[in-house]
Amino acid sequence: MDILEGLRARKTVRGFTDKKVSREVINEILTDAHWAPSASNQQPWYFHALSGKPLSKLCSAIMIARRQEKKTYDPSRGKTIPKEYVDRTRKLFQGLRPFLSSLGDDQRAFIETGSFCFYDAPAVIFISMHKALPETRLMDIGMAAQNLMLSALARGLGTCAVALTLLYADVINSELKIHKDFKTVLCICLGYPDNSFPVNRFRSSRDDIAEFVTWKGFDE
Ligand SMILES: Cc1cc2nc3c(=O)[nH]c(=O)nc-3n(C[C@H](O)[C@H](O)[C@H](O)COP(=O)(O)O)c2cc1C
Repeated sequence: MDILEGLRARKTVRGFTDKKVSREVINEILTDAHWAPSASNQQPWYFHALSGKPLSKLCSAIMIARRQEKKTYDPSRGKTIPKEYVDRTRKLFQGLRPFLSSLGDDQRAFIETGSFCFYDAPAVIFISMHKALPETRLMDIGMAAQNLMLSALARGLGTCAVALTLLYADVINSELKIHKDFKTVLCICLGYPDNSFPVNRFRSSRDDIAEFVTWKGFDE
């Protein structure tokens, strides 16, 4: 797949078929992720690839933890987020609504329930990073994550990055036996897209690029 084509074709997939993703394919995808650039080539990512029983066990543990304590995501973490960002979240949920009506779910319930069980994806990649590294290294993690998602797309797979479930990072860390010096920073659901799943027909929008760029020195 052409890079430019892939960049615009990628979109989040939230419904997967039961078809397993082989270890060989995942290894290729992770190798592509690993070719991402990183500051001083520190390669700060670490991957846990889960499928089958260990993944079901983790999902059950998250569900149990959730029943015991229903944590809610506060995107502002107590601070006021500028209105434009709040509006974009609202727009995303509004856009999802028509695709969810046939499932009888509201958007928030769908995203929450779906995220906590990784949308029943046959495989999930957990990305962790050493705690001693500065937060700026999350840039590198983001680059590896984007490589991972584009590589998956080129191989006919769909992905959904999931951060919501990090509310239960303690459960993930203990089930996956993540080293105590590392923290889990992102989960990525991976599987073959179920094209009959209504939500997969949804495509998020982007605001006009002109609102995101300041140009200087181009009209001289
Ligand atoms: C860091 C990150 C965390 C995300 N967390 C979640 C999540 O917890 N649950 C979910 O359903 N989608 C999640 N998403 C997917 C976003 O909602 C999605 O990327 C966004 O709406 C844009 O849509 P697109 O990926 O189809 O272009 C996440 C995406 C990113 C990049």
